[in-house]
Amino acid sequence: MLDQLNRLEGEALAALETVKESDALAEWDRSYLGKKGALTLLLRAVGDLPKEERPAFGRAANEAKVRLEAAYEARAEALRREEMVRELEQGTLDVTLPGRPAGPGHLHITTQTLRRIYAIFAEMGFQVYESPEVETDEMNFGLLNMPPHHPARDMWDTFWVSDEALLRTHTSPGQMRAMREYCPEPIRVILPGKCYRYEQITARSEHQFYQVEGLAVGRNITMADLITTLTEFARRYYGAERRVRIRGSYFPFTEPSIEVDVDCILCEGQGCRVCKYSGWLEIAGAGMVHPVVLQNGGYDPDVWSGFAFGPGVERPAMLKHSIDDIRLFYGNDLRFLRQF
Ligand code: DAH
Repeated sequence: MLDQLNRLEGEALAALETVKESDALAEWDRSYLGKKGALTLLLRAVGDLPKEERPAFGRAANEAKVRLEAAYEARAEALRREEMVRELEQGTLDVTLPGRPAGPGHLHITTQTLRRIYAIFAEMGFQVYESPEVETDEMNFGLLNMPPHHPARDMWDTFWVSDEALLRTHTSPGQMRAMREYCPEPIRVILPGKCYRYEQITARSEHQFYQVEGLAVGRNITMADLITTLTEFARRYYGAERRVRIRGSYFPFTEPSIEVDVDCILCEGQGCRVCKYSGWLEIAGAGMVHPVVLQNGGYDPDVWSGFAFGPGVERPAMLKHSIDDIRLFYGNDLRFLRQF
């Protein structure tokens, strides 16, 4: 049967040489490699061989198949070229025709969400302030009231770049940079940007994501200003009828600290899978800037006060567009991205 195989291969290759146009090529493909092609039938007959001969024959037959497929591809390519040359010579190919236009791209869902958030806060008088993605330990933690070995550092699993530098785990270090730049003026800024965490990637958490930090510093700023600002944001982003709930929380850089929820936009607070049957969705951590943080920024906490908040960006987009897997954002699947 090995002989038969060799003969078949030789014959097929010789026949391929004589193929001059695409119909004949398709016919060749059918008669050797197709479902009822000669090689396919021979491969199927492997079962008739004595057991000990099967592996060797099977291997040889598969190798022959790979060679024939490659020869087929090469012949097909050669025929395509010949065809093109012929068209050029006969002048049937009009090289002056305009090319196919490249379709315009569009903004990524994250960019669109960021711009929406910028617009809402711009209407409330917040400017955009940018700060670096690679930060020092001191900015990301120390000056935010988390000295080395502070247990709260465990809230942020960190990608370290060196002993002192890291990929920021949140946009909060930008608060310090803004304060040091603006001091002693009042501040009203948002700080958008990428953050990184050394975390397991799941449908709900990525190791790279966006946050939009907010910071206001002034002489008479109170918790009422913070709650009003975030309620206003929630209503403009999620819809005018939204209700907001405030819960006590803990962050080292705010005192008091809160977490802000909106009633679930999918079930209107009735309870569903997305809100885990609580009726509420968490949208941001926030609080009154801790006196130590104000002081580190150059502001006297006896004269100045401030509020800060730090919502994510992908999560709001997920809620708004019913996206159930955060990994889709940066998976670069155009079928997903084109929807927005
Ligand atoms: N930085 C916090 C985090 O990543 C979020 C946060 C909480 C930011 C409270 C704030 C704040 O500005 O006041 O989890």
